[in-house]
Amino acid sequence: MTASQQTSPAPVVTLSGARKAFGDNEVLRGVSLAVKPGEVVAIIGPSGGGKSTLLRCLTLLETLDAGSLSYGDLTVAQDEGGRTRYVKGPELKQARDRFGLVFQNYNLFPHMTVMKNISDAPIRVQKRPRAEAEAEARALIAKMGLEGCEEKVPCQLSGGQQQRVSIARALAMNPEVLYFDEPTSALDPELTAEVLRVIKELAAENMTMVIVTHEMGFARDVADRVIFMDGGVIAEEGPASQVIDHPREARTRAFLSRLEE
Ligand SMILES: Nc1ncnc2c1ncn2[C@@H]1O[C@H](COP(=O)(O)OP(=O)(O)OP(=O)(O)O)[C@@H](O)[C@H]1O
Ligand SMILES: [Mg+2]
Repeated sequence: MTASQQTSPAPVVTLSGARKAFGDNEVLRGVSLAVKPGEVVAIIGPSGGGKSTLLRCLTLLETLDAGSLSYGDLTVAQDEGGRTRYVKGPELKQARDRFGLVFQNYNLFPHMTVMKNISDAPIRVQKRPRAEAEAEARALIAKMGLEGCEEKVPCQLSGGQQQRVSIARALAMNPEVLYFDEPTSALDPELTAEVLRVIKELAAENMTMVIVTHEMGFARDVADRVIFMDGGVIAEEGPASQVIDHPREARTRAFLSRLEE
């Protein structure tokens, strides 16, 4: 074995001992997760189990009560005796550049064209030259199968098209990891298929992704690792062939059998 085979690549994102409560409701009860470059992680589990809260903590939309979070070698939040302290200002901004988030309901800017939805942040936030940002947006529009939609506004598009715009918008910022929170749960089956297809293409290109999904077939196809979250903890994780096809934990089995009903 060579030296390069022995050292596994540093994780893109590392979360350890994450705790989060809303009042008395302890939603995350010590979640640890490290995602390697190029890895695709699917998160499954029952409603209320803390999946969205986990993504919201990873994407700095919520703060952790306890636990640590880092992106590569950039420490974002550090546990200090059971309380989390966050970095401020420029370092926090630097961390935000490392990831993208795709929501269930697209969250596009309704008054902006597709082109502007995709190119606005690269131009205004990343200060990239307009011509360069628009050329990249056009390439992403083609990659997402949205040619001809450049000058349309979101309400002129199907849900599946809007979700592909929102994936293009996230990719335009060149994130190191892309998070998805149930990207297809607002879509009809045929629109779901076109969105899942582009996510699979990204997986084939080694995009690092963490995907909360109720689509077990998709998770089985695309994920290197499946995490089953229940009651604010990771109850089981491993390859889909284990977690989905041969779950070891009774609560994973119970969840999967409820889905089949
Ligand atoms: N901002 C908030 N304020 C108060 N409680 C919240 C907030 N966000 C989430 N919760 C609570 O945290 C718990 C976990 O919710 P979360 O949305 O993370 O679950 P989930 O696994 O994503 O569920 P679903 O599959 O239904 O999307 C729920 O009890 C929810 O009511
Ligand atoms: Mg959720």
